[in-house]
Amino acid sequence: MSTSLDHIAFIMDGNGRWAKKRFLPRSMGHRAGVRRIKEIVLSCFEDYGISTCSLYCFSTENWNRPAEEIETLFRLLKQFFEEELPTFREKGVRIRVLGFLEDKRIPSDVLSTIRKAEDETRELTEHVFNVLFNYGSRQEIVRACRRLAAKAQGGEIEAESITTEDLSSELFTGGQEDVDLLIRTSGEERLSNCLLYQCAYAEFVFTPCCWPDFDRKELERCIEEYRHRSRRFGAIKE
Ligand code: IPE
Ligand code: IPE
Ligand code: MG
Repeated sequence: MSTSLDHIAFIMDGNGRWAKKRFLPRSMGHRAGVRRIKEIVLSCFEDYGISTCSLYCFSTENWNRPAEEIETLFRLLKQFFEEELPTFREKGVRIRVLGFLEDKRIPSDVLSTIRKAEDETRELTEHVFNVLFNYGSRQEIVRACRRLAAKAQGGEIEAESITTEDLSSELFTGGQEDVDLLIRTSGEERLSNCLLYQCAYAEFVFTPCCWPDFDRKELERCIEEYRHRSRRFGAIKE
């Protein structure tokens, strides 16, 4: 069915504006935003039977923010993993952290918490939760190209026979389905370097709702909108 939904992706956006509207510091917006994650991700798995859920948490461009805000975000994400890991384990969710984790700017305690979440859910197969962390899609594509180039140079593959599937399998999401539905909150209508290759045929739903306000009801509305889309993949459909 064209409106099957295997892979959903979220650009969680609007934490700062949510806080500003309430005359609160941006950090409070991030706190409220991180609190939403579990509810939404689990709802995708449990209420809609979605197998893969991706969440854009920190982009390679987010280093341009003040150090204090970055620290707050990292601390909140670390806390989130520490607290929620048992729940995700219990529900059979494999946590994958996709991004440039070798970056020296990532504090070591944050990195070890993230790695622990990956390690301790590695054998789980029911659902996949991709945490896009220090992730940038263009850089990811370049990395994939380099890996393919190295293989070609080593004689493992022929440059002329590289396919779209080959490139796809060298991305951080290698082996996963392409994105079916991408939801961005806060009213912004752009990708901001998120899953460019994987979204080639994705449907996009943009909601004015800021991420800290994005609840199950709003998720339901977005998925309903997706269900009414006609996905043609270049073909003709009545
Ligand atoms: C999204 O909210 C959180 C991350 C980027 C991790 P923002 O912090 O971008 O919130 P706005 O866009 O400033 O409102
Ligand atoms: C995209 O949101 C990054 C994440 C949600 C992690 P931004 O708020 O950083 O995007 P721009 O700067 O508005 O495009
Ligand atoms: Mg933003």
